Amino acid sequence: MSEYVKIVIDGTEVKARRGEKLLWAALENDIYIPHLCAIREEARPNASCRLCFVEVEGTQDPVPSCTRTVEDGMVVKTRSPRVDRLVKTGFELLLSDHDLKCRQCPANRNCALQTIAKKRGLKLKQKRFKPVARNYEIDDSPEEFAFNRNRCVLCGQCVFADRRENETGVIGFAGRGINRVVTTFQDLPLAESICRKCKVCVDVCPVGALYYKKSPE
Ligand code: FES
Repeated sequence: MSEYVKIVIDGTEVKARRGEKLLWAALENDIYIPHLCAIREEARPNASCRLCFVEVEGTQDPVPSCTRTVEDGMVVKTRSPRVDRLVKTGFELLLSDHDLKCRQCPANRNCALQTIAKKRGLKLKQKRFKPVARNYEIDDSPEEFAFNRNRCVLCGQCVFADRRENETGVIGFAGRGINRVVTTFQDLPLAESICRKCKVCVDVCPVGALYYKKSPE
């Protein structure tokens, strides 16, 4: 059996590794699908950001492309009125409690939210959902980096990187719904936790919630 399958995305036939998730197959072929929470090595995708929807021929409803495995002959559309509506709503919900002071953010111009907005023609200042102000204190206890939870989009990239690097995870999710946060055990400041300052969490943060105090030289 061949290692690859052929699929059609937006009218173009592309090769994808058998067993690969649709999102990665598309990205590998330079076809953009918005995504925040997908982690390639993660066997069971989180599928929590709800931004990576696509239409798959023969499937009634749009599906998150990070959860769908490629199949030979699959026909996929990354855009449709239903997909665009879902992505727009997911994006606006994410932004409704995101600290949108982009000019003061270290990730400005290198932020996954700005990329999604640009690629999909979406606005960063959404009006549909009432903004929810989050007033978490910034944890700047580590010497080299800080954590501003008001910018966190709960994508889980930092939690996964931390678990991969450190035997005992330093950070994880706590709370539910609007109170869900990434935090340390007992909500301790990072410098007082078991954090080894390996900074893998900072390196993977797509939105400037975890950031270096000084930009790299
Ligand atoms: Fe698929 Fe987040 S990337 S749901």
